[in-house]
Amino acid sequence: MQIKLTNGKTIPVEMHKVKIVQKTYLQTAQGRLKALEQAGYNTFSLRSRDVFLDMLTDSGTNAMSDNQLAAMMQADDAYAGSESFYRLADTVQEVLGFQYVMPVHQGRAAEHLLAKTFVKPGMVVIMNYHFTTSKAHVELQGGKVLELCGDEAFNTQSTNRFKGDMDLGKLQAAIAEHGAENVAYIRMEATTNLIGGQPFSIQNLRDVKKIAEANHIPLVFDGSLISENAFLVKQREPEFAKASIKEIYQEMMSLVDILYLSGRKSTAVRGGMIATNQREVYDRILPWLPVYEGFTTYGGMSTKEVEAMAVGVREMCDENTASSGAEFVEYFVRRLGERGVPVVTPAGGLACHVDAKLFLPHIPSLQYPAGALAAAIYLVSGVRSMERGTISMDRDANGNEVASDMELARLAVPRRTYTMSQIEYATDRIAWLYNHKDLVKGLRFTQEPPVLRFFIGRLEALDNWGADLIKAFEADLGAI
Ligand code: F0G
Repeated sequence: MQIKLTNGKTIPVEMHKVKIVQKTYLQTAQGRLKALEQAGYNTFSLRSRDVFLDMLTDSGTNAMSDNQLAAMMQADDAYAGSESFYRLADTVQEVLGFQYVMPVHQGRAAEHLLAKTFVKPGMVVIMNYHFTTSKAHVELQGGKVLELCGDEAFNTQSTNRFKGDMDLGKLQAAIAEHGAENVAYIRMEATTNLIGGQPFSIQNLRDVKKIAEANHIPLVFDGSLISENAFLVKQREPEFAKASIKEIYQEMMSLVDILYLSGRKSTAVRGGMIATNQREVYDRILPWLPVYEGFTTYGGMSTKEVEAMAVGVREMCDENTASSGAEFVEYFVRRLGERGVPVVTPAGGLACHVDAKLFLPHIPSLQYPAGALAAAIYLVSGVRSMERGTISMDRDANGNEVASDMELARLAVPRRTYTMSQIEYATDRIAWLYNHKDLVKGLRFTQEPPVLRFFIGRLEALDNWGADLIKAFEADLGAI
């Protein structure tokens, strides 16, 4: 909850208390250099023991609630017909209004099944913006992704409150160009991840729905970050200022044909689901569930997580839960901004994003400024962030590099996991790095996988800049 202090400043105050903790370690500067070299300058390849604050992602790393952990104890491990599934299905019906629910092991499994069901070679899928796995699954089925957010989405220094909105003019033009029958579906991604966790408005969703309906194109909602989008709608869209978070979910869901999500974010469990009210859609997808995921009542999830997901869906209706990530993100963005560090504005959900194009203007796209920034942030702080830039773009069909629209180092803020003093520490070290940014140079691949290369690719620092950066750090700040 945002609380105004007597000095006029506002801070996010946690509306929960800590019951269980996990120890974390802060390696020395030399230890961090060694760990990053072993990880091939890819923060994905670091071991947890070498990471102080793990801001790689909020996926599966949010703190669960006592009620979620308690619910796990009543899991019904039946292979088929598990009561845990029916508790989840009842909750989804009550909170989100969908009659048919299919659990899957995580979000990308839902993307796989949707692409397999709807995308035929040569078809297009229209999105406000892609997510890495959503794009990969469409392309693996022979489809093409069109991203039709407004141009403002790529302005990292913006005051636009809904940079995740679909551009309606571009949407109509794309349908006219490709023909409605060749559009497999329109996908709206809540709190659009790769443009900096930016929400779309409900008015935009209504307008997209009108166009989709008129053209008989299914509207798919990626709700992995649904609670953040709902909270930001409440804050930023005057029509919903007084609505409850649950009412906002229900308004959004009333507009879409299919919801899918990664439960690893908004519901704080390891799993995912697809939900719809359309019997025909359900009947088309369901047969593939046992083939790829598991029987229809567990879909590859542990039944313990199915139970916790049911509680998570209920808990995300609580405004203090829905806001717990976004308010810390806003604080982090504000504090870095005060130190002059170029961060994506307005603050969104999921993460604080540092603009690597502005932070490291001397590094060209094909030397991976966002990857270099993520590596440098780790070296100076032990904080693990993620590259969201050209490394996250795979090569095109001809093997050519594709420069990303944006170069971001993403510092995710897992919900209810880190404290304000840890955010202050991260801010301080990133500000120090900004003052020494000339020491950071580019990266080069030494091992490049053919698909989703950002996950396990290995790179090296051009001119061994990592060692120079650590030398400067030690001279200024000492061994830690
Ligand atoms: N859609 C969105 C918007 C996501 O952010 C993610 C995952 C997925 C789909 C895929 O879900 O991981 O459960 O298979 N995002 C994670 C991240 C990986 O770090 O942002 P998944």
